[in-house]
Formats: sequence, structure tokens, C-alpha cells
Amino acid sequence: MPTALQPATKPTMHFIGVTTGQSSINAVFPLWAERLGLGDCVLHGIDFAPGSPAADYRAALEFIRRDPLSLGALVTTHKVAVFNAGGDLFDELDPLTRAIGEVGSIFKRGGRLHGRAVDPWTSGHALAAQIDATHWQGGAEALILGAGGAGTAFAWRLANAEATAGRPARIHVVDRVSARLAHLRTLHASWLGAAPLEVHLATRPEDADAVLSRLPAGSLVANATGLGKDAPGSPLSAAAQFPERGVVWEFNYRGQLVFLEQARAQEAARGLRIADGWTYFLHGWTHVIADVFDCAIPTAGPLFDDLGRIAAAAR
Ligand SMILES: NC(=O)c1ccc[n+]([C@@H]2O[C@H](COP(=O)([O-])OP(=O)(O)OC[C@H]3O[C@@H](n4cnc5c(N)ncnc54)[C@H](OP(=O)(O)O)[C@@H]3O)[C@@H](O)[C@H]2O)c1
Repeated sequence: MPTALQPATKPTMHFIGVTTGQSSINAVFPLWAERLGLGDCVLHGIDFAPGSPAADYRAALEFIRRDPLSLGALVTTHKVAVFNAGGDLFDELDPLTRAIGEVGSIFKRGGRLHGRAVDPWTSGHALAAQIDATHWQGGAEALILGAGGAGTAFAWRLANAEATAGRPARIHVVDRVSARLAHLRTLHASWLGAAPLEVHLATRPEDADAVLSRLPAGSLVANATGLGKDAPGSPLSAAAQFPERGVVWEFNYRGQLVFLEQARAQEAARGLRIADGWTYFLHGWTHVIADVFDCAIPTAGPLFDDLGRIAAAAR
């Protein structure tokens, strides 16, 4: 058994990622646990290289399933891999999780192992902190760069918002792998009443620039490729031009975020609104902590704001 999978000696939330030791959550978690009254518990990182063998993911899931003090886990980067490698090890997976094909939250209820996708919900909460629904009234569109787990979940969130509640007139998704785009197109076909979707294969940054250049004013551009954190660079070239009064969202908050730098260079001239992934991080972690410790954490209001302040101070 890998040393990372030794039986827990106190209530433990695992964190399955790539470089978990570098995340701000290690400093934040004990302070949040105190504020939330979670008792004597710990956060424990399990690192896997991207594309690890299915047997490694299955070993982690089987370990969590049978170790009594392992209460669950947050999954980052490996959400799709955990679903693909170990979907059959869960007792409960809801239909949306099965449809999107990713597991971000692992938790137990009555001895049964549950998994669910949280990005469809948490991406929506993080977006609501940047713009309100009236933003879409002028015909703005959305461009999501990257059709992995997070990009697909965000596309679901945007496409399935009630048209009356405000959503993009059209959603564009760019990826460099045609199979991912085909999967998204198939999913989209099953979403009744969803906003229109266009997928674009981009093998070079200039291909993504071309889609960007056709967006109407006010459009949203989100970097869900992981470039800047998981690998160097940006999905856009240095010549890319963001739309006038656009909303630019980088999903990550750490790393050398070139995409964010490209947006900041045009912020004043093009009247951009820019956000990184910090608020998204807060929503993701609070959602999964609530699952793992079976407690309620609101997505807005004084307690959420307090958790945000604690995290910012410990960051
Ligand atoms: N702040 C938060 O709390 C939060 C929450 C969710 C996600 N995120 C971040 O969002 C990023 C994406 O997460 P994920 O789970 O969706 O990762 P993922 O499954 O690896 O998806 C990224 C997708 O983008 C594609 N891609 C990479 N470079 C590209 C390029 N130049 N042009 C077009 N497509 C490109 C990837 O293709 P390849 O497989 O070929 O590389 C992959 O399909 C991660 O860095 C994650 O940390 C942050």
C-alpha cells in the first residue's frame, strides 16, 4: 500500500491532486475547521501524476471506501480520471455526474460511497460573483477555452441557466482534442432547451484567437485549459484581442497565469472585467467540505464571507 494510503487515525478529508502540498488549502483548512466547528480533523493530500494508471485511482477509492476515519475527498485535476477508472466503485452517482463524467466530491452516507460533480454548481456561484444575470441581455456570448471536466461543467451551467434568468446568446468551446468536443456536442444534444453551443478545434493559439475575434462586445472568455498552472503558457497568442467590455475569467489562481497577464494588458483600453480562480476555489472547497463533513455551508452571506476572509489572510 502506498504510504499516502495508511489508515487515518482521526477524521480525515483527503485531497486528490497533483501538487497538493502547494495549495493554499493546507494553511486554510485547519482555520476553516475551527470556524465551522468540524472538531479534531485533518486534510491529507494524495498526489498522482496526470494520466496515472487506473489501478492507482481505484486503490485510492477502495482505501477511502473501507477506511472508517477517511470521510471523503476533494478531487482536483483527476476528476474525469476518477470517474473513468473507478465509477463502478461508488454506491451513488447522480445522473448529472454520470452525464458529465467527472467526480469532484467523494463522501459517505450510511456506509455508502457517494461521488458527485461539483463544478456545474460551483462555477455558477463563482460567475455570479463577477456578473449578474442582466449582463447577458445585450446578446453577449461565452467562450470557454478547454473542454475538460471543468470546461464541460461550466458549459452545462451556462447552457442550462433559464433563458429568462439570463444566459449567453451562444456558447463557444475550444479544445485541441476533437474527441472531447464530440463528447460535449453529444452531451449538449441531450440538454433540452439549452443555449446554442458551437465547438471549435484549435490546434494552435491562433485558432483560438480567431474564435475570440468574432465575439460580440461584453462576451465572457474563460480559460479552463489549465495552461499557466498545469503547463506553461496561454491558449491564446500574444496578438489575441479580447472583446470590448468583455469579462475575462482565469479558472486558476496560482501559477504563472499568462492568460491573465494578456487580459490585464488590455484591461483599461478594452474596458475588461477580470477575475482569477480564487472565488471559484472558495466555492469548490466549501461545497466538498459540506459533503464530506455532512454539514451545511451557505454559498453567500456572513459565514461564506468570513470563510473568504480567513482564507485570504492565510493564503
Ligand atoms: N479555481 C478552482 O477552484 C478551479 C476549479 C476547477 C478547475 N480549475 C482549474 O481549471 C483547469 C482545468 O481543469 P480540468 O479539470 O477541466 O482540466 P482538464 O480535464 O485537464 O481540461 C483541460 C482541457 O483543456 C485542453 N487544452 C489544454 N491546452 C489547450 C489549448 N492550448 N487549446 C485548447 N485546449 C487546450 C486540454 O487538452 P489536453 O488534455 O490535450 O491537455 C483539456 O481537454 C485546471 O487547471 C484546474 O486546476 C480551478
